[in-house]
Amino acid sequence: LSHMLIDNHGRTINYLRLAVTDNCNLRCQYCMPEEGVQFAHKNELLSWDELLLLSQSFVEMGVDKIRITGGEPFVRKGLMDFLEKLAFLDGLEEISITTNATLIGPHILHLKKLGITKINISFDSLDKSRFNEITRRNQFDTVMTNVQRMMDEGFDVKLNCVVMDGKNTQDIIPFVRYAHDHPITVRFLEEMPFNGQSSGPATLKWDYITILEHIKDHFGPIQKLPAPASSTSLNYQLKGSKGKFGVIPSYSRTFCGTCNRVRVTAKGEMQTCLYATETIDLRALIREHDHINGLKFSIYTAMQARHKDGFEAENQSETKKSMTLIGG
Ligand code: GTP
Ligand code: 5AD
Ligand code: SF4
Repeated sequence: LSHMLIDNHGRTINYLRLAVTDNCNLRCQYCMPEEGVQFAHKNELLSWDELLLLSQSFVEMGVDKIRITGGEPFVRKGLMDFLEKLAFLDGLEEISITTNATLIGPHILHLKKLGITKINISFDSLDKSRFNEITRRNQFDTVMTNVQRMMDEGFDVKLNCVVMDGKNTQDIIPFVRYAHDHPITVRFLEEMPFNGQSSGPATLKWDYITILEHIKDHFGPIQKLPAPASSTSLNYQLKGSKGKFGVIPSYSRTFCGTCNRVRVTAKGEMQTCLYATETIDLRALIREHDHINGLKFSIYTAMQARHKDGFEAENQSETKKSMTLIGG
């Protein structure tokens, strides 16, 4: 088998988003309903050994970047032991984590020792009461403290702010100012219809263009920064800034043409697109034949039936998917 994972549109896949749990200690409104969703049973989750085998398979096929997602990765016991092993995989150049930063505090120095310093944090408001309302829990102070500590330790921290009409648009300007005053990146995400309930808004009021116009109206012209071709975010900077800000057109999907990523959910379902409606059951493949070549062949085959532009998004009007099950 070739050493590269190239799809049927010639896109090289070198980035795996690996969800290690679907559970979470927050209840963000855009992600799931108040009562939560049907979380997986323990034996439905890939074990840490299975996650390692899977990671190894992808790395042998050319993946050099793995992002650990969830749910909230730190709610699952054993994460740090897993990361210690993952860090030793030959050929894996970058491990990053997407987290809500509520539970990361005790692990900050350990992560730094492992060289895991790229941390993306779901953080939707700088205002305590709005933050707690959006997440439906009271973790604002803990998250703020952890963000500050990671900045002090020199981590590459990105804050993900999902822009929701009527809920946190008043936070956009303060967030840009925060990125001016701190060595951090703030990214504004278009809201997607993955809240575990009905579909999202039929038309998105705050698309990335509207967000950028809003920022320009306030600060004047902004300077665009170069970004890798496969980047999901368009990045900018104000003059004299310590940090940066960006927008992610996750709903508009302007970046599909250079998509370099594949996802595996906590139950071992491979998704060739965030919007995919069909998944490939890697868990069954691992448990039935414990042979890594069969696994790699199935991964490769699935990659030959990818859509070009997330077109499956058009079929999502009835979706009841939750981001906590997909991993973002
Ligand atoms: P970096 O490695 O720092 O560039 O992170 P990232 O942007 O890949 O990861 P993060 O977990 O912070 O994801 C941010 C958000 O980008 C996701 O939650 C989605 O909203 C959006 N996003 C990432 N990949 C895709 C994709 O393939 N399609 C769509 N529509 N949105 C995506
Ligand atoms: N729309 C847009 N972004 C979402 N996220 C979670 N749910 C949604 C949604 N419905 C974001 C969170 C997290 C990232 C992985 O996905 O901000 O940081
Ligand atoms: Fe938890 Fe992330 Fe979903 Fe918020 S967006 S409920 S932090 S999984």
